[in-house]
Formats: sequence, C-alpha cells, structure tokens
Amino acid sequence: MRRRGSFITLEGGEGAGKSTQMARLKTALVKAGHSCTATREPGGSHGAEEIRDLIVTGTANRWDSITEALLIAAARRDHVERLIRPALKRGEWVLSDRFVDSTIAYQGYGRGLPITLLTRLRRLSCERLMPDLTIILDLPVEDGLARAALRKGNGEMRFESETIDFHRRLRDGFHKIAAEDPERCVVIDATQEVESVSALIRAVVRARLPDSGL
Ligand SMILES: Nc1ncnc2c1ncn2[C@@H]1O[C@H](COP(=O)(O)OP(=O)(O)O)[C@@H](O)[C@H]1O
Ligand SMILES: [Mg+2]
Repeated sequence: MRRRGSFITLEGGEGAGKSTQMARLKTALVKAGHSCTATREPGGSHGAEEIRDLIVTGTANRWDSITEALLIAAARRDHVERLIRPALKRGEWVLSDRFVDSTIAYQGYGRGLPITLLTRLRRLSCERLMPDLTIILDLPVEDGLARAALRKGNGEMRFESETIDFHRRLRDGFHKIAAEDPERCVVIDATQEVESVSALIRAVVRARLPDSGL
C-alpha cells in the first residue's frame, strides 16, 4: 500500500510571511518530485471558502467568540474531509497556510476561549489527523502588521483590525503551542529577508521529514 503523503502547516500572525513562504516551499517540493497540494484556512475546500467569508469579513465583534469557533470548526471539517484526507491518501504532500494552531492562538489565547473546548472541537473536525510538521513564523507584532498593511486590501480585515494587545497574545500563544509540542512544531525567525527565511524552512523540512528530498 502506498504510504500516505506528508502534511505540513505554516502558522504565525498577520504578515509573518506564511503565504509567501508556502508558495516557495511548494515550488521546492515539486522540484524534488512530489505532488503537492497547497491550501489554507479558514477555507481550502469549496464549502469552507464560503464559510471563510463569514469569518474574515465584517467588524471585529461580528460574532460571539463561541459562534466564531463553531464556524471555524465547521469549515475545518469540510476542508479535512473533502480536501486534505483525500490528497494525503493519494500520497500527495499537503501544505496548509494556517490550521489547528491558529484556532488555539486566535480563539484561545486571543479571544480567551478555554483551550479544552477548542481541543474538543478540533477532535470533532479532524478526528486524529494532525500535521506531521508545523512551522511557526515569528516576528514582532508591529512588524507583521506593517507588512500586512502593505499588502493589497481585500476586505479580509476582521483580525488585522484587532488591538495590538490581541496580536501580542497571539504571538505568545504560538510560542506556548511550540513549547508544548516540540516534536511537531518549529519556530522560525521571520524577520530576515524572504530568501533567508525560505532557506531556514527548507532546512527544517529536510531535517524533520527526510522523505522530502530537500
Ligand atoms: N521576509 C520578508 N521580509 C519582508 N517582507 C516580507 C517578507 N515575507 C513576506 N513579506 C511581505 O509582507 C507581506 C505579508 O506577507 P504574507 O506572505 O502575505 O504574510 P501572511 O500570509 O503571513 O499574512 C507581503 O507583502 C509580503 O510580500
Ligand atoms: Mg497570508
């Protein structure tokens, strides 16, 4: 039987460089001969992208925090069942721009929902699926928000418009997540220039997932 593909997630705050680095990692993996599916959360599958619009547009207080967590859980279930699992079964490498750790950071450390509640929702959405490797891009909150502000606006401002304090809790949250699960998570300094960050990411993937051939 063919071995299932590998699942890598990129995490971090707004403007950390997740989308930039995911495209570069995908190129490297394809060059190494892998079939590679790049996806994102919230969203990723058709149904989940419809739910994404509800989550990322509008005012910061559009949803009560539990409603928001339930919308994310519903979108994730669709994404996992319709896109991620089938791709992994086909032996592909799946890269996701945000996944379960963003929920712990944003809805847990950011909004203050109990981590135990979010873990229960995660089990409902993902059952036992977890990433093989999670790369957390880390940089000072102000730097990330300044980068995000330079990006072309598309109305997806619900989280970017949160307070600096909220974004600081996210950054600390990602550090806690990494400290609690060092087998899966690696924190990378994202303040350096794009190519240096890419090289660091490729080195981590090579070391953690030798099958990558990077
Ligand atoms: N290492 C870097 N140094 C400087 N600017 C960067 C770097 N990485 C990404 N950027 C720029 O910062 C902005 C946010 O990057 P992006 O990849 O969209 O971040 P994210 O997806 O994490 O929000 C983009 O305009 C991107 O070109
Ligand atoms: Mg992005």
